[in-house]
Amino acid sequence: MIRLIDKLCEEHRLLPEEYGQLLCCKDSRVLHRLQRKAQETAVRRFGHGIYLRGLIETSNRCRNDCYYCGIRAGNTALTRYTLADSEVLACCRQGHALGFRTFVLQSGEMPPSADRPLAALVETIHREFPDCAITLSVGERSREAYALFRQAGATRYLLRHETRNGAHYAALHPPGMSLRHRLECLRLLKELGYQTGTGMMVGSPGQTTAHLVEDLLFIEAFRPEMVGIGPFIPHRDTPFARHPAGSVDMTLRLLSILRLMLPGVLLPATTALATLCPDGRERGIQAGANVVMPNLSPPAKRELYALYAHKACTGAESAGGLHELEQRLNRIGYTISKEKGDYQHV
Ligand code: 5AD
Repeated sequence: MIRLIDKLCEEHRLLPEEYGQLLCCKDSRVLHRLQRKAQETAVRRFGHGIYLRGLIETSNRCRNDCYYCGIRAGNTALTRYTLADSEVLACCRQGHALGFRTFVLQSGEMPPSADRPLAALVETIHREFPDCAITLSVGERSREAYALFRQAGATRYLLRHETRNGAHYAALHPPGMSLRHRLECLRLLKELGYQTGTGMMVGSPGQTTAHLVEDLLFIEAFRPEMVGIGPFIPHRDTPFARHPAGSVDMTLRLLSILRLMLPGVLLPATTALATLCPDGRERGIQAGANVVMPNLSPPAKRELYALYAHKACTGAESAGGLHELEQRLNRIGYTISKEKGDYQHV
């Protein structure tokens, strides 16, 4: 098993059955080595600076009905909101003053009529903050919309594939959605020159080790610039309310595998990880992550953007808690980097 870690370090890939063995491994010596190698690899690439991304949740309206997600269209218990452009700009100004140089605009999926207004907002942000990167995380859109956002100044896009297995995808999403379309969107985003992020939930309902191996093989072939993974966390107003949360340890193990597979990838220690355990962010970084995404949304709106239960959005998870975040990172030997932090091809 130790041999597999060395192989992954050197060749950045494993055979499907080898990924499976690593995911099932119970030998703490092996797992410790995996984690240590991943952390070393991240430090060699990025030093001890952790990139900051300011997350602005611009709207919790969504036309989709994903069975796991708290802002799904079918959740009638939720108060819906959409931030005015002026509110989004105010978040950016606050973030910029705090040192943020990346803004991530995330929302539920909107109809095509929202494409032009969003492009206009991106352009306004790009003009006011030419020193900042704009990342979008607004779901499946048309090629024209993706091109419009790109022209307006967005250079990065996050769209998790959620699972690379068709049957599993169909068990997590309603019939109107398809894995094929999701993958087609990812291909378009790359083609249009976005730094593209994908990823999956860990421990989503029905997920098997074989599914995770498929996810890893997909990521290995797709070569995204960013990978977002976090544990599944149930939300009470969804069909998966009674399903147990995903495993923190498995999430950390996957972060380490991803770091060794794609040494330069931008890998956040996600909010879901920090939600499930108080030092989740730190453990993510020690497993090879190099990005954190504090919440820059207006505090009054944050609890309405509940993708899952008890989502962390205060303290070190919020922009206001930057000092606490800095202290927590210092304690494990890291600092906050104020760099824009684009993906570097080497
Ligand atoms: N638990 C964890 N992650 C979730 N997401 C959505 N719902 C949940 C949940 N219940 C993740 C999805 C989506 C991202 C924005 O949030 O992977 O792509």
